[in-house]
Amino acid sequence: MAMEGPLDFSAFMATALYHPALGYYAREPRQVGRRGDFFTSVSVGPVFGALLARRFRAWWQAAGSPQPWRLIECGAHDGTLAADILAALGQLDPAALAALEYAIPEPLPRLQAAQREKLQPYAEHVRFLTRPAELAARPLPGIAFGNELLDSLPFEVVEWQADGWHPCRVGCGPDGGFSWETQAPLDTPALAAALAPLGSGFPIGYRSEVRTGYGGFFAPLLAGLSSGMLLWFDYGHARPDYYHPSRHQGTLQTFSKHRAAADPLLDPGAIDITADVDFTAVAEAAIALGCRPLRFCSQGTWLTGVGREWLLAMEGQPDAGLLRQFQTLTHPAQLGARFHVLELAWNDPAPAPLTAADRHRLALSAPSQGT
Ligand SMILES: C[S@@+](CC[C@H](N)C(=O)[O-])C[C@H]1O[C@@H](n2cnc3c(N)ncnc32)[C@H](O)[C@@H]1O
Repeated sequence: MAMEGPLDFSAFMATALYHPALGYYAREPRQVGRRGDFFTSVSVGPVFGALLARRFRAWWQAAGSPQPWRLIECGAHDGTLAADILAALGQLDPAALAALEYAIPEPLPRLQAAQREKLQPYAEHVRFLTRPAELAARPLPGIAFGNELLDSLPFEVVEWQADGWHPCRVGCGPDGGFSWETQAPLDTPALAAALAPLGSGFPIGYRSEVRTGYGGFFAPLLAGLSSGMLLWFDYGHARPDYYHPSRHQGTLQTFSKHRAAADPLLDPGAIDITADVDFTAVAEAAIALGCRPLRFCSQGTWLTGVGREWLLAMEGQPDAGLLRQFQTLTHPAQLGARFHVLELAWNDPAPAPLTAADRHRLALSAPSQGT
């Protein structure tokens, strides 16, 4: 990675993960799963996709079964989740599948090639794109969603010093490697605006992360939907928990061969770089674009609600393998509590209001925010 001066961490991360030739995700898609670097809900097995298909179909029916309708999957990786959803939807409701356009925006050619191969059986339903903006020419009702997509969006690293926040930039160290530069002033308006709601008085040396790009990421997705929902699954917290004074080293992590570490400067291009999601910031960015939060809860709670009929249908003839997957996805000690789900309505004339409990969990300040 050649550099002329210190880089914002977000630029360093974008290059390390998404450079078209050298980026971590530009390689053959073997990052997820047992032989890769980390597991996701998708790598647990097809139950996650099957339950998402049920939620999508319920939305489609409630919306009056629009024909056509659109799902936009962000961060579809090798197409496994798409294949699971399309297979389940085909079994559940062939009419819903027949009316569906499943759009996958994918900037990295190797990943798109893998998606095309895996989704061959569903080719008539899938639309492969480089950028979501291509969908704006013909917006359709539907849902844009992603699993572990938001945590992989680039972020800035910031440090609290005696005079307030400073960005942590990436420079060249004396040994030819990369090093942190923490003395630069906070001179980026977008970063200053993202830090303002965090308050002040953190311990000196407190480090954390902020993303300034949620709105820019959501806008082209919403332009491709005439109405519908955004739906995000990820690990993270509401703002007060994320920026709790005790969380003084932030949440940045790297992953390689299922080992977590904390130095993203060591081996760029060879390791995953991630940080938790501030769901309050996600909701605020979507609200600013005209969305309304519908639901915010743990993945365990969400999947248990969505999977109720699926579980009841298994009564008397349980499939041990499928139930094991369900337990991994929902048990609080596994993926059920650490992962959260945020549903946001888009252009819905009468969205179900956010419950007081969900508003509290999301740490949204006032109903006047359009919620
Ligand atoms: C942690 S992986 C999750 C993969 C998959 N969704 C799963 O749950 O197994 C993150 C994925 O998001 C993709 N990604 C990140 N930013 C993206 C963007 N702007 N557009 C499309 N994909 C993106 C990465 O290439 C990677 O495939």
